[in-house]
Amino acid sequence: MRFPVPAPLPMPTEKLEEFDYATLRTRAMASLFEAFDSLCEGTVMVDRNARVVWINERYAARFGIADARQAIGKEIEEIIPTSLMREVVRTGRPLLLDILDVNGESFVVTRIPIKDDAGETMGAIGFALYDKLQPLQPFYARLHKLQHQLAQTQQHLAAERRAKYTFTHYIGNSPAATKVKQQARRAAQLDTTVLLLGETGTGKELLAHAIHAASARAEHPFVGFNVAAIPDTLLEAECFGAAPGAYTGADRKARIGKFELANGGTLFLDEIGDMPLALQAKLLRVLQEHEVEPLGSNKVVKIDVRVIAATSRDLKADVAAGRFRADLYYRLNVLTIQLPALRERTEDFGPLCDHILEQIATRTRLTLRELDPGALALLRRCQWPGNIRELRNVLEQACMLADGSRLTEADIRGIVIPAELPAEMPTTAATEPTGTYEAALAAFERELITRTLQQCGGRVTEAARQLGLGRATLYKKMAALDIPSRGQDTPGAHPQR
Ligand SMILES: Nc1ncnc2c1ncn2[C@@H]1O[C@H](COP(=O)(O)OP(=O)(O)O)[C@@H](O)[C@H]1O
Ligand SMILES: [Mg+2]
Repeated sequence: MRFPVPAPLPMPTEKLEEFDYATLRTRAMASLFEAFDSLCEGTVMVDRNARVVWINERYAARFGIADARQAIGKEIEEIIPTSLMREVVRTGRPLLLDILDVNGESFVVTRIPIKDDAGETMGAIGFALYDKLQPLQPFYARLHKLQHQLAQTQQHLAAERRAKYTFTHYIGNSPAATKVKQQARRAAQLDTTVLLLGETGTGKELLAHAIHAASARAEHPFVGFNVAAIPDTLLEAECFGAAPGAYTGADRKARIGKFELANGGTLFLDEIGDMPLALQAKLLRVLQEHEVEPLGSNKVVKIDVRVIAATSRDLKADVAAGRFRADLYYRLNVLTIQLPALRERTEDFGPLCDHILEQIATRTRLTLRELDPGALALLRRCQWPGNIRELRNVLEQACMLADGSRLTEADIRGIVIPAELPAEMPTTAATEPTGTYEAALAAFERELITRTLQQCGGRVTEAARQLGLGRATLYKKMAALDIPSRGQDTPGAHPQR
């Protein structure tokens, strides 16, 4: 296909009739139209109200219209849903180059307004070029590559915003662990705010993921961030978003806040106890009104987000000390789950270590290690202020340094481990079960209760909590087993013997 070669401009000296000029202009327009029409996959013309005046058969067929005449008089969007012809007649300005996707194929389209002698827009004409047009191939290749990359990035982002853990990842069958899982399962059924309390490394983040994954919001995003990890000056924008150039150093583009990103899903606010007081007030308002106002903007955005907050701090004490707003505390403290520290669930050490060793083996592709009983006993005796996170670090180091498929007590001792509990503390291993079943059970109970009481500095209420018993029950057992109480709890609570 060839465009008609434009006739050379007449030389000023050459004398041409008016008539020739007019013919040439008319012919030029006709040739141009014909050339475009035959070169193009589609041609469509609309009137000033964007109703179809004419469409060629081939193009009409693309949009499922058997007879092009049927399209005449219809609104353009009825035929081509994503058409921009209406914009051209509205603005009177051409859209010279655009890409139109039609059932998986892309066309380069050109749209030009048609003007009357007074310069008023009477309608518009659009041409859709073949997508196989050779000269445009590099342009298409690049476009498709970018589209592919965009799709991948979006997929990746969506995966990032999905929960990474479920309840099966929370290992442990001790009474304390079982109770936590029960509470968290119940939390997943409800849509209220959840507050997770516990020392660092006790699984707060893991549980937040699991609650989301088991909730009705599971198909929507899970967005989390650590309040303590973000400088105070950036925290507000991070939470609630910011209008373009809203704060010093801000990008010129608008910033979407985490609340908006989590819309429809769950927002995990880790280390909420570290939130500055001024922002706490704003957070409270957001929780009450379900809308956020991005920094430096005057629009409000409606949000539907379930908040799961976590902290390793003693929030109640922070409230008492004026470091945390009481009203926000009560707003968050609707459904509170206290995660047990590792020392409060020593029964779970075996399964936990197995689980972590399996993870290490999978990740490092090294052979799976097993723990000698001596090594396990040593780990159990240690203090773990960093809880499972710290336990994992120790096991990782041990796996790196030890050879052989078993980790011995010596291997564990070969690396830095947390301080052992005081030696005089009796351990479970000291109780060799002998005699009748009943006597052995009593000995075991006495041992366990004595040890827990020692750990708790004699505070019966605290020991009862660690053991997962009611305080009165523990007192009864202590009385039955002849375990003296130091009477640091309410003395009146002692049952009479
Ligand atoms: N009950 C558990 N079973 C197995 N792994 C756990 C458990 N709790 C925590 N972890 C692991 O320990 C590490 C710390 O957990 P995390 O949820 O980040 O704790 P926190 O948020 O309380 O500091 C993570 O690698 C997590 O997968
Ligand atoms: Mg954490």
